[in-house]
Amino acid sequence: MLENLHLRFFRNYESLDWQLGNGFTVLSGPNGAGKSNLLEGIFYLGAGYPYRQAQDEALVHWGADFFVIRGSVLQNGLKYDLEIAYQLGTKRKITKINGKRDLPGACTACLPVVIFSPADLLLIQGAPSLRRRFLDLVVTQSRPQHAADLHDYSNILTQRNNLLRQGVFQRAEILSWDEQLVAVGARIISRRLSVFKTLMDLSRVVFASLSRNGELDGAYISQMIPQYSLEEDEDFCRQAFKDALERRRSLDERLHITTTGPHRDDLRFFLQGHEAQLYCSQGEQRLIALSLKIAQNRLLSSVQSSDALLLLDDVFSELDTVHREKVLKELSRSRQVIATTTSFLEEGDSATGQLTPEITLYQAKGAEWL
Ligand SMILES: Nc1ncnc2c1ncn2[C@@H]1O[C@H](COP(=O)(O)OP(=O)(O)OP(=O)(O)O)[C@@H](O)[C@H]1O
Ligand SMILES: [Mg+2]
Repeated sequence: MLENLHLRFFRNYESLDWQLGNGFTVLSGPNGAGKSNLLEGIFYLGAGYPYRQAQDEALVHWGADFFVIRGSVLQNGLKYDLEIAYQLGTKRKITKINGKRDLPGACTACLPVVIFSPADLLLIQGAPSLRRRFLDLVVTQSRPQHAADLHDYSNILTQRNNLLRQGVFQRAEILSWDEQLVAVGARIISRRLSVFKTLMDLSRVVFASLSRNGELDGAYISQMIPQYSLEEDEDFCRQAFKDALERRRSLDERLHITTTGPHRDDLRFFLQGHEAQLYCSQGEQRLIALSLKIAQNRLLSSVQSSDALLLLDDVFSELDTVHREKVLKELSRSRQVIATTTSFLEEGDSATGQLTPEITLYQAKGAEWL
């Protein structure tokens, strides 16, 4: 459970301190009040990236040159002080747990978050990087060692690309980067494949309960093996990645960039065998995205001894009554939920406080209250 949150120069907040409650908290306020920004701050702390398409720079309060997000989390009787700070000039991001420097993504294990928002549609419609980021978050939430591998992979990739950019180098040099890239990359791909399989098994069931519109399917797409036939076995991934790097080495040398690897992979979703991004209606795409998020939540509660913190950004405006009830029922078991709404709450709902002059807080016993 997230017990308190501190934002400094984050989005529209110069400075904000919030003591959170458990159960169902609703943030109510007009458009532009800063409700989504608040959820974004919490999500960022747990995920290490913004859930909307924004880059880190966009999160810095206008006129400031850094932001800081801090939060205290109580998990299984232990307390963790989490902090992420970002510096605009250097583009450096610093993650700390209990005052000690840690890897980016390290907070994920302490603060598992699942967000539901209109931006979820980007999981289907958006760029491949958004889908990779989502899958890597789900993987890291269930297998925390993934964070260190992603960090190492990105460093090795940068060095390999730097070498390619130089243009002139010894063959042994590039081979040495390849070897390291393949070792870490194979672990990343293998973990992704295994978690994605579980995620899709859960999503299929959720989707079937939300819609009668056919069967949902998903595939992990890699240029290493074009026919979707990657196996999750780590040795298999290592060999496939190694072969692909060799096959594409002259292309990489010409383009001065690494053209294959987990940093180029993608996810694809299908409804009745038809690719969702190309053929599904907006409503169907939204239900697929919603199924993925509910599946993420189910997966988390099966691997974590504690529940995820659920963030619901304006989701109720997007769903019809039937789906709204199904979703609420699904989420009502969660211990800490924070939802935003622009609608005026009914008389009799007692406000528990004013977070900012524009944002009113309501505490509810359960999700059925919405
Ligand atoms: N980097 C930034 N610095 C300062 N203000 C910002 C920054 N980024 C966004 N804002 C402002 O923050 C305000 C609040 O945005 P936010 O998306 O949180 O609103 P909201 O309460 O969710 O509104 P809605 O109900 O329309 O979704 C916007 O008016 C926006 O201009
Ligand atoms: Mg909003």
